[in-house]
Amino acid sequence: MAQLVVTGGARLRGTVGVLGAKNAVLKHLVATLLAPGIHRIDNTPDIVDVRLMAQVISHIGASCRFEGTSVEVEVPDELLPEAPIDLVRRMRASILVLGALLARCGEARVALPGGDDFGSRPIDMHLEGLESMGAEFELVHGVLRAIAPGGLHGAEVMLEFPSVGATENLLLASVMARGTTVIGNAAREPEIQDLAEFLVTMGAVIRGAGTSTIEIDGVGGLDPGRHRAVPDRLEAGTYLVGAAITGGEVTVIDCVPGHLRMELRKLGEAGCSYEVGKDWVTLSGPERPRPVDFATLPYPGFHTDMHPQMVSLLSLAEGTSVITENIYAARFRYIGELNRLGADVQIEGQHVIIRGVTALSGCPIDACDIRAGAALVLAGLAADGVTTVNDAEHIDRGYADFPGKLAALGAHIERFD
Ligand code: UD1
Repeated sequence: MAQLVVTGGARLRGTVGVLGAKNAVLKHLVATLLAPGIHRIDNTPDIVDVRLMAQVISHIGASCRFEGTSVEVEVPDELLPEAPIDLVRRMRASILVLGALLARCGEARVALPGGDDFGSRPIDMHLEGLESMGAEFELVHGVLRAIAPGGLHGAEVMLEFPSVGATENLLLASVMARGTTVIGNAAREPEIQDLAEFLVTMGAVIRGAGTSTIEIDGVGGLDPGRHRAVPDRLEAGTYLVGAAITGGEVTVIDCVPGHLRMELRKLGEAGCSYEVGKDWVTLSGPERPRPVDFATLPYPGFHTDMHPQMVSLLSLAEGTSVITENIYAARFRYIGELNRLGADVQIEGQHVIIRGVTALSGCPIDACDIRAGAALVLAGLAADGVTTVNDAEHIDRGYADFPGKLAALGAHIERFD
């Protein structure tokens, strides 16, 4: 069990860089399976989930070589179309190999995914979309067996909800399908546009990625691709909230400020001032935050993965904030831990009611997922005394050297393994 021990009180100051988005690089790794040869992805963060996905595709036959912030993936002509149960259960994004393997091999065996515990996270939209492209599924002993007897064909798929994963699975499945696929009500996240850009470097024909209608003309085969991953807006946003909660001033570089528009707007309403350039944001925190209401929504709405960090900030606001969580019904396990620090946060159905307190007071608390872990560390930075965040390995799944980067900004933080 890893522990992060934080002594509160230091204001974060300085400059921090972010690397490529976890939620983009995981998909690039899967996309490499579509074409034999050597692919290269630059701006890759060295985080646990990226290493896990590298293990998933290595089991399938690829070889991954990490060097600095790049990864080279060599994909052979023959693949083993199965994802191992122990890895899939640790990371929900592994379900994306379904679309890629159906496209490349016409079959796939993938365990039902696990990942963060945010309540029930079904994959019905993935399966319905793939079925309309000619795939057939059978669940045997917890393993989904997929085949595409006549090969995948283009289809018009209207998603019930703009699911990120379902949009990506369909994108991966359709780039080599016969004919044209149209994904309606597609997710518009920047990471989807980034996946499409990588696929286009491989020879795919895709129109409209980043909008709610994506059209894909299937091609006979793809070539290896090379791509620089889009910056991680969640890593960037987390350091900005760090500046906000400590009343400090932080410049995040190598990011895309436009991908954080809604989050910056809400930080502004909370009393932060900020300035943006082409690839940087400088944010100064207020002496005490103002309360803010918002709802999490698909992009370009407020990102659900920034909700816990924002709750930490608003727990110290001068007044009451209400947050509505629309993406995950049960993303609230961290709130009990935040309240142990003295926050006054209540859950009412899908709403979080945050009555701002004047101070938090450090104690031992447990991280339960990536963003909750980060949010609790941020709360610890603002709390009086020492906050020990247990189970901090959750944070390693999504942040490269989180304690090191915070310490470089002036935080008093130590890691114990
Ligand atoms: C991705 C991100 C995750 C982020 C989420 C929303 C990765 C690796 N993860 O997750 O960090 O929080 O987008 O921005 O990129 N749903 C269904 N049926 C389906 C698919 C989804 O009911 O077939 C539900 C989910 O349970 C969830 C909601 O739709 O409640 C959103 O899920 P989705 O957009 O698919 O998120 P992920 O791709 O899993």
